[in-house]
Amino acid sequence: MSLLIKNGEIVTPSERYVADILCVGETIARIDRDLTPPKGAEVLDARGKFVFPGFIDPHVHIHLSFMGTYAKDNYESASKAALVGGTTTLIEMCAPQRADDTLKGFELWLGKAVGKSACDFSFHMGVTKFDERTEKQLRQIVKRGISSFKVYLAYKGFGLEDAELYHTLKLAKELGVIVTAHCENETLITELQKELLAAGKTDPGQHYESRPPAVEAEGVHHLMTFAELTGAATYIVHLSCKEALDQAIAARLRGVRVSIETLIQYLTLDKTYAEKPKFEGAKYIMSPPLRDKSNQSVLWNGLRDGLIQTVATDHCPFDFKTQKVMGKNDFTKIPNGIPSLQDRINVLYTYGVKAGKIDLHTFVNSASTQAAKIFGLFPRKGTIQPGADADLVVFDPEYRGRISATSQYTNVDYNVFEGWKIEGRPSVVTVRGQVMVRDGKFTGKIGHGRFIERKPSHF
Ligand code: URP
Ligand code: ZN
Repeated sequence: MSLLIKNGEIVTPSERYVADILCVGETIARIDRDLTPPKGAEVLDARGKFVFPGFIDPHVHIHLSFMGTYAKDNYESASKAALVGGTTTLIEMCAPQRADDTLKGFELWLGKAVGKSACDFSFHMGVTKFDERTEKQLRQIVKRGISSFKVYLAYKGFGLEDAELYHTLKLAKELGVIVTAHCENETLITELQKELLAAGKTDPGQHYESRPPAVEAEGVHHLMTFAELTGAATYIVHLSCKEALDQAIAARLRGVRVSIETLIQYLTLDKTYAEKPKFEGAKYIMSPPLRDKSNQSVLWNGLRDGLIQTVATDHCPFDFKTQKVMGKNDFTKIPNGIPSLQDRINVLYTYGVKAGKIDLHTFVNSASTQAAKIFGLFPRKGTIQPGADADLVVFDPEYRGRISATSQYTNVDYNVFEGWKIEGRPSVVTVRGQVMVRDGKFTGKIGHGRFIERKPSHF
C-alpha cells in the first residue's frame, strides 16, 4: 500500500519547498524531487497546491452531557467533519461529572470512539474531583496513554475546589502531565447571573455581561498562582481577550509554565453576534463569551508573535431549534458551545493567511505542530518528515466557495459562518497513508481512526 504525492509545495513551521512525498503503509517513507512511484502505488498530482501536515484540533467535544442536554455529534459525524476540514487528529475532552467515577468516565469516552472514528484521536482526562481513589485512577489512566488533564474553574458539576486543584497540579507535576484549564471565576459568574436575571435581563446578549473579561482574567490569574506554586505545566484553553492574555503573559515572564490556546471563533466573531435579535444570538453563545472586536487584533498579533501557541475550536454542537431554545427566557440555560470543527482551517487560512494577519508557517504551527509538541504527539504528528505518520493535507489555494450548514458533516442545524467566503480548502486528506477526503468530500472508512497513546513529557 503506497501513495506518491507529487510536486506539492510542502509547508511546515520552518520550511517551504516543492517535492514529492512517498508514503508507504502508514508513514512517510521518502521526500525528494522526481520520485518514481513503486509498483501499484497511487499517484496524486499536487502541482500548484500546498501540502500541510495533518491539522490537529486539541479542544473538541463530541460526547458531552452538559447543561441539561447532550452535544449532538458522535464520532462518525465529528470525524467526517474534522477530516473534510483538514483535521486528521483531534483531542476530545473526557468530561465525567463530579459524581461520576473517573476511570469509568475514561472507559465510557474511549468506548464511544474506538472503532467509530475516521480520524485519529486522543483525550484530555477531565479531573472533576480529587480524592485518593481518583488519584489512583488518574495514575492508571496516564499509563494507558493519556498525558494531559482538563480542569474547569467554571461550571458547577465540573469545577474543582481549590484544594483539589492544588493536588491535581501536584500530581500532574509528578507525572509530567500537562493540565489544560477552563479559566473563569465560577462564583462571580453565578452572582452576576443572579443580578441580571433579577433585573429582568434574560436575552442571549446578557451572557457576555455575566462573564466579562475580568471574570476570565481572574480565572487565568488563579490558575497561574497555583501553577507557580506547584511547578506544573499548564495550558489555558479558549483564551478570548486581552485582559486574560495579560495575566498569562505576566505569569510566563515570571517563570510559570503556560501555553495558550485561542479559538477560531474569537479571532473572527465578536460579541455583537450574540446580540442578534429574535433569539438568533443564542447560536453564538459559548464560554468565555465572544468579546469586543478590539480583542481580535490582540489575538492575531499574539499568534503572529508566538505569545499564543494554538488555534482550536472547542467544537461543541447544540441544535438551534431544539437545544439552544432551552434558554429562550433565561440566557443562563442556553447550552454553551459553537461548533466549528469542519471550518477552523478554511477560516484560519482565508481570514488569517489571505488577510495578511499571519503567515503560512504560523498557520501550520498554530493549527498543527504546536498542538503536537505540547501534547506529546510530535514528531509522529504535526510535521512532514520521513518516519512521521502519513497524515497530510493537500490544500488547494485556488478553490473558492462559501460555508454553509447544508454542506457540513457535523450533526447540527446551523453554522455561525453561514455564507462566509473561503479562499482555499483541503482537496485531499490522508490519515496514516489512507486517503480519507477527495475533492472536499469524505471518501474514507469509519473505524480507520485510532486512539493515539501519548507519553507524559512535561517533567
Ligand atoms: O461554551 C463552551 N466552551 N462549551 C463547551 C464546554 C466548555 O466550556 O469547554
Ligand atoms: Zn471545551
